[in-house]
Amino acid sequence: MEFPFDINQLFPERISILDQTLAVSRKSSARPDLQENIATVLDELGRASAKAQQLTAPITSASKLQSQKHQLYLMKDGAANGGRGAVVGFLKVGYKKLFLLDRQRAHIEAEPLCILDFYIADNRQRHGYGLQLFDHMLQDKNVQPALMAYDRPSPKLLSFLAKHYNLTQSIPQVNNFVVFEGFFFDKSGSR
Ligand code: ACO
Repeated sequence: MEFPFDINQLFPERISILDQTLAVSRKSSARPDLQENIATVLDELGRASAKAQQLTAPITSASKLQSQKHQLYLMKDGAANGGRGAVVGFLKVGYKKLFLLDRQRAHIEAEPLCILDFYIADNRQRHGYGLQLFDHMLQDKNVQPALMAYDRPSPKLLSFLAKHYNLTQSIPQVNNFVVFEGFFFDKSGSR
């Protein structure tokens, strides 16, 4: 995704992590014009993700990120667009208190890290970018895919999780979240 401003100036790293402050670097947080451009990128990404998932409204935007304690991993291609850079996609995560059912249909209260939104630009899908972004987040958060919950995963995300992380056996829930076999095992392997 290309923008009429310099993506490399906004996002110095290949993968940037944004939170409530929308600050990527000291420079960008001090300059309202750069903050405005970051907001434009986030709003555009949110709209594209919603369209790809056929949602009626975006679940990601600059104002939503500012009002929630989520983290957004944004990947760029610094060499694209004549060296001004292009945005490849994003992955948004956050902790949520959930009431879940285990295999025995017992209610369990948990606050796992959740995958909330995930999008790779349409013309770059199926090139391994999603895996790179997801793996970066896993390392940064020091978490395993089976210990996370997935908010209303799309068929493409379910296929992605099966292919890359062997997550195929989901445990039926009564909410929109999906968890997989392994979620309810604690470190000692009990339960
Ligand atoms: N159809 C089916 N499976 C797909 C598709 C597709 N069009 N695109 C990606 N996948 C899955 C497949 O398992 C694929 O492997 P394959 O090509 O061998 O079948 C695998 O993902 C490819 O892995 P990557 O290249 O690393 O994934 P990608 O860069 O495409 O990113 C993502 C995956 C984010 C799901 C991307 O396809 C996308 O943006 N899709 C549209 C938006 C979407 O559905 N996002 C998930 C929303 S749900 C949520 O966020 C909780």
